[in-house]
Amino acid sequence: MLLKKIHLIAWRNYPTCEFRPHPELNFVVGGNATGKTNLLEAVYYLCTGESWRAGREDELINWDAERAELVGLLARDGYETRVTATIERGGRKRLTLSGRQVGKQVIRHAVGAILFTPWHLNLVQGPPHERRHYLDIELGSSHLQYSRSLEQYHRALHHRNACLREVASGRAGQALLEVWDEQVAAYGAKVLVYRLQLLRSFCPLAVRFYRDLTGGAETLGLRYASTVEFGGTDTEELLVRKLRSGLRVRRHEDLLRGATTVGPHRDELVILIDGRSARSYASQGQQRTIVCAFKLAELEMHAARKGRRHVMLMDDVLSELDPEHQQYLLRALVGKTQVFITTTQSFTLDGFKSRAGLFELQGARLREV
Ligand SMILES: Nc1ncnc2c1ncn2[C@@H]1O[C@H](COP(=O)(O)OP(=O)(O)OP(=O)(O)O)[C@@H](O)[C@H]1O
Ligand SMILES: [Mg+2]
Repeated sequence: MLLKKIHLIAWRNYPTCEFRPHPELNFVVGGNATGKTNLLEAVYYLCTGESWRAGREDELINWDAERAELVGLLARDGYETRVTATIERGGRKRLTLSGRQVGKQVIRHAVGAILFTPWHLNLVQGPPHERRHYLDIELGSSHLQYSRSLEQYHRALHHRNACLREVASGRAGQALLEVWDEQVAAYGAKVLVYRLQLLRSFCPLAVRFYRDLTGGAETLGLRYASTVEFGGTDTEELLVRKLRSGLRVRRHEDLLRGATTVGPHRDELVILIDGRSARSYASQGQQRTIVCAFKLAELEMHAARKGRRHVMLMDDVLSELDPEHQQYLLRALVGKTQVFITTTQSFTLDGFKSRAGLFELQGARLREV
C-alpha cells in the first residue's frame, strides 16, 4: 500500500494542503500546534474511514468551514485507487473508494493503517484491560468470528454477574447459575483459543523486533497469564472443562463479590524486559521501544493475512529515544512499508537521504525541504 497524494480541504487547522509523500520514510517536522497530528489523522481517516481521537466527526471540520474533504490517491496491488472522505456539519459523512460509496469497514479492510500514538504507551504502563483490549480489538479485529465470540462472551458474563447478585440475595436459585456457567465457559474457551492463536504469531515477531530495536542488548518476554491453567496443546473442549471447573471452584467467592473472577476477562498479557516486569520497571524509552516492537509485529501479522502491508503512522514516536535508538527504529522501518513520522525535533536525514522525505510545517503550511 502506498499513499501517493492526499489533498486536505478545510480539515482541522488546514484551509487547504496538498501532500505528496515519499514512498518510504516521511518526516513531518514542526513546532507544537502546527498541525502534525492533524495531518496524520487525515491520512489515518483516509485509510480507515474514521479518526482515532475525534469524539464527534464535526471536530474534524475547520472552524471556519461547513464541510471538510479529503481526497487521496493510493497505489494498491499495482492499481491506483482514489479514496475520498467528506464530512459535513451535523455529522453527515460520505466515503468513497474508486468512485463507489462505501462504509468504513470496507475502507478499513481494503486499505488499513497501523497507528502509533503516545497514548499507546498505556499498553505497557496501563492496567491489564489495556493489553486485553489491544489483543481483542487492535490485533483481533479483522477476525469476524473472534469479534462475535467476544461479544457473546461479554453478554454471558454480564448475565452471570447479574445472576450471582440474584442468587446472593436469595431471589434466584443456584440452578440458574449453572446455565450461565455453561455459557461463560463455552464462549470463554473460544476467546481463549483465539487469543492464544493470535499470540502464537504475535509474540515471536514482537520479541524479534524488540531485539532489533535495542541492537540486541535487551530481551523482551511475553507471557499470557490466565485464570485457568492451560497447556500449549489444549483443545477448545478441554478449555471449556477447565473454565467450567474454575467457575465452580470460585463460585462461593464470586457470590460474595457479585462478580465473576475466572475467565479471559481477568487474564493478563505480562510484558517482561530481561525477565522483569515492564509495567513496573521499564523506562520511558523502553516503553516506547516495546510499543514500536508491537506495532512492527502488527504490521507483519496484517501483511501475512492480507498479502500486503499497511502504511505505518507514528505520531511523536522519536521523543524519549536517544539517537542510537532512533536509528535502530528507522532501520527497522525502512523498506518495510510507507511510514509517516511526526516530530518536533529538528531532524537530519543522515543515512536515509535517498529513502526519505522531510516536510516542514509552519502554521498549517507544509513544505518539502
Ligand atoms: N477543527 C479545527 N479547526 C481549526 N483548528 C483546529 C481544529 N481542530 C484542531 N485545531 C487546531 O489545530 C492545531 C494543531 O493541532 P495538532 O494536534 O495537529 O498539533 P501538533 O502539530 O500535533 O502539535 P503537538 O506538537 O503539540 O502535538 C491546534 O492548535 C488545534 O487547536
Ligand atoms: Mg501532535
